[in-house]
Amino acid sequence: MKNLTIVGAQWGDEGKGKIVDHLCDKFDAVLRFQGGHNAGHTIVIGKEKFILSILPSGLIRNKLCIIGSSVVIDPIHLLNEINLLKKKKINISTNNLKIANNASILLPFHSLIDKAREKELSKKKIGTTGRGIGPCYEDKIARRGLKIYDLEDTNTLKTRLNNLINFHNIFLKSVSQKKISFKKTFKLLLSIRKKILPFSVNINEFVNSKLFFKKKLLFEGAQGLMLDIDHGTFPFVTSSNTIPATAASSLGLKPSKIGHILGIMKAYTTRVGEGPFPTELKSNIGLELAKNGHEFGSVTGRPRRCGWFDAVQCKKAINIAGIDFIALTKIDVLDNFEEIKICYKYKMGKKNIDFMPSSNKDLNNVKPLYKTLKGWCEKTTGIKNKINLPKKAQEFIKVIEALLNVPIVYLSNGPERNDIINLKRIT
Ligand code: GDP
Ligand code: IMO
Ligand code: MG
Repeated sequence: MKNLTIVGAQWGDEGKGKIVDHLCDKFDAVLRFQGGHNAGHTIVIGKEKFILSILPSGLIRNKLCIIGSSVVIDPIHLLNEINLLKKKKINISTNNLKIANNASILLPFHSLIDKAREKELSKKKIGTTGRGIGPCYEDKIARRGLKIYDLEDTNTLKTRLNNLINFHNIFLKSVSQKKISFKKTFKLLLSIRKKILPFSVNINEFVNSKLFFKKKLLFEGAQGLMLDIDHGTFPFVTSSNTIPATAASSLGLKPSKIGHILGIMKAYTTRVGEGPFPTELKSNIGLELAKNGHEFGSVTGRPRRCGWFDAVQCKKAINIAGIDFIALTKIDVLDNFEEIKICYKYKMGKKNIDFMPSSNKDLNNVKPLYKTLKGWCEKTTGIKNKINLPKKAQEFIKVIEALLNVPIVYLSNGPERNDIINLKRIT
């Protein structure tokens, strides 16, 4: 019985929230380790739909939930999300939610900077969520950003916020932009500090305490491995490391504590925002995938770009994350396709390659080579056992497993909490 780290193996929105919800009952705590409220993790229970952006998905099952130090936290958004969930009768208190007091604070001007930059870049934009994630991580890395513990002492908060805003205002003035109001931002932080601080803990002491040390942990990744700041399709990535190793660094734990790695993969590929996407389908097939899969961003509502499953991309994900097991989601979205394709190699110039080139210039020029499979043209939602799946669906799964050489342990065949087939016990 080991800890488990769950990561998205494509460009996000693979169904991480659903799988975390499915598995978390077997764990003592769920820990979010990177990103911010750019994430949108959906859990569907009957007619009720929960979309969690900053809170760990384990709260829906009343698990002890922890937000690690590498997460960027918009305190206003956090309080709103807590209230929204409380209205839906989800229990959230300082007993079941703990926030690392060295996590970074994301402020309203981070989002303004993010949006202004995207507008400025126009055709070269990244297609961010506009939630200020990049600018907040920049302030952290530049060592001028605020931490949750800065809310503890109002004098320190005043000085640190003043320095931070002065820095930004010098730049904003030089580009004739409206300055950030220190007074307004300080007032805002004073108004929420007493609501945030009770959740905050010294994360190092907390996770290494005797009481916590033996707990079985489920780490919840956000975004996807192809959006990792170092290993993803830079610069069309997010600003955090999405690889599982971040779980250990974010919580201040021995790296081996992250346990097994479960990679979540959609049975096809989607991407929201700009950047290379070798198997993207700009045809009606892409539109049909989007329609069947309701592929609209849970955070921004933007349509997601869609394409066939890309085994070359997923092999890279397996390597950079050390994926031990796979959960293959949304297989039901393929239910009415007469033909289904799986990319197994890329053609680059005259060569066939089975790895993802690093530069976008090369990646934009590869041509996917496909294995074409016959579709099953039958409904898969509701099926509870792999042997009851249409033979052609079983074949599709077998081909993916053979190409990736990693066992598929869960199949998700519908958005609802119970639409899942367990193939192997891993928890
Ligand atoms: P996450 O960010 O990885 O947690 O994924 P999102 O919640 O952003 O996006 C996944 C979407 O697909 C959500 O609307 C889920 O309700 C839905 N979903 C998850 N698994 C399945 C599945 O197996 N089939 C279908 N049809 N929808 C699914
Ligand atoms: P979950 O956790 C899909 C994408 C944005 C953009 C890029 C940078 O729900 O899978 P950012 O706002 O992070 O600076 O945007 O990353 N992106 C996501 N795409 N799912 C997400 O999260 C994402 N979070 C960020 O669309 O392309
Ligand atoms: Mg999402």
